[in-house]
Amino acid sequence: MTSTAVAHPNIALVKYWGKRDDALILPDTGSLSLTLDVFPTTTSVTVDDALTADEMVFDGAVATGSPAARITTFLDLVRAQAGRSARARVDTRNSVPTGAGLASSASGFAALAVAAADAYGLDLAEKDLSRLARRGSGSACRSIIGGTAIWHAGLDDATSYAEHVSGPDLGMVIAVVDATAKAVSSREAMQRTKSTSPYASGWVHAAEADLLLMQQAFAADDVSTIGAVTESNALRMHAAIMGCRPPIRYLAPQSIALFDAAERLRRTGLEAYATADAGPNVVFVCRAADVDAVRDALIADEAAGMPADRLIAAHAGPGAHLIEAVA
Ligand code: DP6
Repeated sequence: MTSTAVAHPNIALVKYWGKRDDALILPDTGSLSLTLDVFPTTTSVTVDDALTADEMVFDGAVATGSPAARITTFLDLVRAQAGRSARARVDTRNSVPTGAGLASSASGFAALAVAAADAYGLDLAEKDLSRLARRGSGSACRSIIGGTAIWHAGLDDATSYAEHVSGPDLGMVIAVVDATAKAVSSREAMQRTKSTSPYASGWVHAAEADLLLMQQAFAADDVSTIGAVTESNALRMHAAIMGCRPPIRYLAPQSIALFDAAERLRRTGLEAYATADAGPNVVFVCRAADVDAVRDALIADEAAGMPADRLIAAHAGPGAHLIEAVA
C-alpha cells in the first residue's frame, strides 16, 4: 500500500528563527505564515516488510547521507507512534528550487508527515499532524495548514503546533533572485545566531512583540499593518543573522534592491511589502486582489532588475493532504 500526499511551501510574515529545544524542535517564539498555491511537493510512502533499510528517492535520484538520515529519523518517530518497525520507500518530487530559501523543507516534511502517517496506519488530527511535521522541520508544521497559519510556540511537544488564523485575503509575488542551494542551511544558521550573534536575544523579544502586533492586525483585517510588521520583522531577523560570527549574509545586493522596489511601489499607492527567508529571494506580500498589479509593477520597475519569468504570482494554497497516487 502506498500513501501519497501533497504539500506547499509557506512564507512567514513573522519568522521562526531560533529553537528552545533542538531535539523536539520547539521554537523560541511563535510565528505566522501564508501557505502558498505554488511549488508543491508530492511524496509517496510505501511500507514494505521486505526492506532492511528505508529507501529514499528525491526527484528521481537516490538520496544518501544526511538528507536520507533525516528522513529515517523522521520515519522512526512515525514508526514509534504506530508501534511498527517495517521500513519504507519514500519517493519525493519537488517543484520548488531545493535549498534556495523557498521553504522546501516545509513542504517536504509536511508532505512526508501526511503520507507516512497514513502509510503506517496512524489516523491523526490536523493538530497532531502539525506536531509531527514540526519534528522534521519547524516551519513544516505550518504547511499542514492551508492559508494563513499561526504556530504557537507552546511549552512542550503537545502544545507546539500550527492552526488556521483568520484574516484578510493575502497574496504574494516571489522574486527568484537565485535558485541555487544556499551555502549555510537555516538549521545551522539558526544555531549560530543563538550561540554567536549579540542580537539573538533582541530578536527573540522583537519577534514576540511582532507576533502580538500581527495577530491584532489580522483580527482587524489591517493589511497596511500586516505588511509593515512583515517587512520590519524580516529585516530584524536578517540583522540578527548578520551578527553571527563567522558572519552569514543571506541577502544579496539584488535582494536589497527589491526591498527598495517595495518602497517605490508603496509610494505609487500600490501596497506591497517585502520579506525574505534564509536566502536571497524576496517575497512581496500584498492583498490577494493586487497580486497581478504588484507583479506587473515589478516587471516595469527597471531598478528592480527582475525579468518576468523570475516573478511568480502566488495565492493562499491548501494544507497538506492525501491524494490518489499518480503513476
Ligand atoms: C527563515 O523550518 O527550515 O524560513 O526547524 O531547523 O528545520 P528547522 O528550520 P526551518 O527554518 C525556517 C526559517 C525561516 C523562517 C520561517 O519559515 O519562519
